[in-house]
Amino acid sequence: MVYLDNNATTPLDPAVVQKMCWFLKEHFGNPSSLYPLGQKVKALLTEAREQVAMALGAHRSEIIFTSSGTESDNLAILGVLEAQPEKKEFITSTIEHPAVIETARFLEKKGYVVHYVPVDSSGLINLEFLSSAISSSTALVSIMLANNEIGTIQPVEEVVKIAHKYGVPVHTDAVQAFGKMEVEVKKLNVDLLTVSAHKIYGPKGVGALYLKKETPFSPVIHGGHQEFGLRPGTENAAGIIGFGEAARILQERWRKDRDRLEKLAQKLKDGLEKQISRMKFNGHPEKRIKSTLNFSFEGIEGEALLMALATKEIYVSTGSACSEEAEEPSHVLLAIGLSPELANSSIRISLGRFNEEKDVETVLEELPAIVQELRELA
Ligand SMILES: Cc1ncc(COP(=O)(O)O)c(C=O)c1O
Repeated sequence: MVYLDNNATTPLDPAVVQKMCWFLKEHFGNPSSLYPLGQKVKALLTEAREQVAMALGAHRSEIIFTSSGTESDNLAILGVLEAQPEKKEFITSTIEHPAVIETARFLEKKGYVVHYVPVDSSGLINLEFLSSAISSSTALVSIMLANNEIGTIQPVEEVVKIAHKYGVPVHTDAVQAFGKMEVEVKKLNVDLLTVSAHKIYGPKGVGALYLKKETPFSPVIHGGHQEFGLRPGTENAAGIIGFGEAARILQERWRKDRDRLEKLAQKLKDGLEKQISRMKFNGHPEKRIKSTLNFSFEGIEGEALLMALATKEIYVSTGSACSEEAEEPSHVLLAIGLSPELANSSIRISLGRFNEEKDVETVLEELPAIVQELRELA
């Protein structure tokens, strides 16, 4: 099997599996219980919180664990808006993940004015649009750090400079950036930031929200005191401990992984460009996560290509895992100016920690022939 869909999810790192298995075998206490059985679990959760905080350059009191990146995005947006009921405007971009875009649509139905910042053909947001849309009525700006489909990296520091002039807090969805580039909350100067464990070789079903002190914020679900009372519910302890371990490993090796994957991805890109005609590369030439490659193949359905590759046990995707079942052309590819036909003829190849040179060689061997075959059939 050649797994090249690491932006959809990553395999668990063996050290994460080991830590989670140990935990599940040895511990079952409720971290809210005052006796040692519970307090031991509480201490392990604190350690995991410290590990995730350290990987982001944050303090552990600023990390709220959730059930996913999706929940963290929702919590960030709804929590900040809830705390400022007098402000009825929200700004985001046209190429956000559905976790943000669909929350924006929900807000529109509730009567909010949402400004969608457009992007250029490389996927970079228009900062002038942002400057003209923002005002003292804006409750929050949410702009993703790296795009999940094309990898384009947004100038989030610039977004923060503009927003903070108006006293508007900024959230960034860093789910795809975490582990692939430097993600330092203090450097970015954001007020809220989302990450998810299953994109960094950790378990599915656990995410985190960085929430800077003093940011206006109200919980959106109500219950006990867990997660500082900001996201109540008995913790997914095994998941959180796995997330902590994944974050610890990330700190040790993300730069090495990035450099190695950058070279592998470049080899793949060069090789495909040499062999395949009428193929368009989507994304920014430089300001992007280099291990994410998105191509359109004129005259071919992306889905047909995905299925043909799958018969060879090569796994890629046509876009975000969340939009894949919708059969609509990708909103990201439409936003960068592709026609619906070309958008539907695209695939995303995303490399990860466990890919090797031979995986790239296999794709270079198989993909050009499949493209030719499908074009002849069409
Ligand atoms: C940019 C981005 N944000 C949010 C999410 C959602 O994260 P989760 O799968 O943990 O809900 C994803 C997942 O693909 C993503 O790529």
